[in-house]
Amino acid sequence: MRHFVDIADHDASELTSVLDLAEQFSNVLERDVPKVPALRGQTIVLAFFEDSTRTRTSFDLAARRLSADVINFSAGSSSLKKGESLRDTIETISAMGIDGLVVRHASSGAATQIRQWTDASIINAGDGWHQHPTQAMLDAFTIRRRLGSLEGKHILLCGDVQHSRVARSDVQAFTALGASVTIVGPRTLLPPTLEGWPVEVATSLDEVIGEVDVAYFLRIQKERMTEALLPSDREYRREFGLTVDRAHKLPAGAVIMHPGPMNRGVEIDPEVADDPRCAVLEQVANGVAVRMAILYRVLGPGQFDEIDGGARS
Ligand code: NCD
Repeated sequence: MRHFVDIADHDASELTSVLDLAEQFSNVLERDVPKVPALRGQTIVLAFFEDSTRTRTSFDLAARRLSADVINFSAGSSSLKKGESLRDTIETISAMGIDGLVVRHASSGAATQIRQWTDASIINAGDGWHQHPTQAMLDAFTIRRRLGSLEGKHILLCGDVQHSRVARSDVQAFTALGASVTIVGPRTLLPPTLEGWPVEVATSLDEVIGEVDVAYFLRIQKERMTEALLPSDREYRREFGLTVDRAHKLPAGAVIMHPGPMNRGVEIDPEVADDPRCAVLEQVANGVAVRMAILYRVLGPGQFDEIDGGARS
């Protein structure tokens, strides 16, 4: 694996091997010293051209746990403000001699475009509405841990599918790993055409909530809407929110997920966020081990038995 930009670039066995490796890194994170020398000497730049809390922190920690040198680069405090183009910015960073570039950008396709301007390996940390492949992997990992496997599982994605890169990546990863996916949401927040999407569409949340293994709630991406697509938050919650009543209908062994940041009381009621079926904080915790696995597959020797870099702690 030289880059990790789009789930569609990787087949099921590759995705599974990332999840297996993430299990090993998750064990490393349980140790007294949760660190391995696997990427010592490698330099990773986190180039975030769009705001982020958890994804950036998670990558930062993952890279440090692998002993890489990490440089944080924020668009807000860079020469982009002085009018430098994205291409010049990337070429400038690359000229300093870096190995990996973790990129988040508001434009779909940015991560693919950047591949042409640098020799560094690119890891996509979210590009516009298009892809958020590391989120999909940590979601798949979380489901596998809770349910044993994704094979034959029924996963519901609820909400703003249209503006969601998480939904696009999740659908690809979950179906590649053997799950079936149903989507539901307000008509105005579903893609105008679902051609090429291997999903079923439900007409209401209440119709399907009683029969799913995973109920995944997406954030309403108001910052990506150019017009008012929703009557109100209250109306949304009534139709598509995970209310306390709906949580009762969800099977006892089901998993509740959300990529964060969560709008409590809109997508998920505050009481439900504390339900034992809710895996939101596990998703965040698993993100570090999964991103270690991805950074290692892209930048490291790639062999499982070398994750300690030869020096077991
Ligand atoms: C997601 C994102 O930024 O795409 N958040 C995240 O990375 N955890 C989802 C979102 O913003 O809704």
